[in-house]
Amino acid sequence: MLVNAAEMLKKAQAGHYAVGQFNINNLEWTKSILETAQKLNSPVILGVSMGAGKYMTGYKTVAAMVKAMDESLGITVPVALHLDHGDYDACYACIKAGFTSIMFDGSHLPFEENFAKTTELVSVSHKLGLSIEAEVGAIGGEEDGVVGMGECADPEECKKIADLGVDFLAAGIGNIHGVYPANWPGLSFDTLAAIKAKTGDMPLVLHGGTGIPDDQITKAISLGVSKINVNTECQIVFAEATRKYIEAGKDQQGKGFDPRKLLKPGAEAICAKVEEKIRLFGSVDKA
Ligand code: 13P
Repeated sequence: MLVNAAEMLKKAQAGHYAVGQFNINNLEWTKSILETAQKLNSPVILGVSMGAGKYMTGYKTVAAMVKAMDESLGITVPVALHLDHGDYDACYACIKAGFTSIMFDGSHLPFEENFAKTTELVSVSHKLGLSIEAEVGAIGGEEDGVVGMGECADPEECKKIADLGVDFLAAGIGNIHGVYPANWPGLSFDTLAAIKAKTGDMPLVLHGGTGIPDDQITKAISLGVSKINVNTECQIVFAEATRKYIEAGKDQQGKGFDPRKLLKPGAEAICAKVEEKIRLFGSVDKA
């Protein structure tokens, strides 16, 4: 059931669990995530980066695929189709294409410009029934060629953006996209607590979910994180399972080269990873 993400994250915030955002890249990714969320009776957010949107030939294709698949698989759990780290133009393109949720990432802009553009996009998306995520304090690592430094957001700026009426807020707390370096100091829980104290009931978003130790995830949820984004970890397990299949020579046995067979171990690996995360985030049976 396609919905915006506002209600599911309000419930998560009140219930002290988090909803997973899993990024999609193609049909297999989408199907694996939807089927796993349905199996676990959990709400779920499908994240689409600008790069992945382009890869799938555009947001219109993505929206059409997700809507049709949601229907044909008989998905009854709440599913949000969400633009991940969108720029201003991408937000409008996704609104037009039929996404149910957008993220405007103005974190690299001067604060006044982030504030002004977020204000406008909150008004437009709410008028049309979409939910909107904003970002303060760039998330580190590399995503679609944009490199952030893993800074910690200023709690005052978080409050100003939260007060604009965004539905959920991504705030840097030392998190980084991609695999964490060995010398990563861990999440800044002091920053998270300070942001929470300023933003009240606002559901907070933790980006860079890949590789954050389970105890830090659990602590972040207890301090007010209601949405956790995972991308790289699904890519890694997909690649590992596919490599194993090919290295075992299975693509050369019978019709093992059939894409439906070749991509199956990777798709199953994504299902297992998404299940592990949904259980860790505590959203089982919260649909
Ligand atoms: P990872 O790729 O580190 O899991 O981060 C995902 C993310 O934050 C998407 O916005």
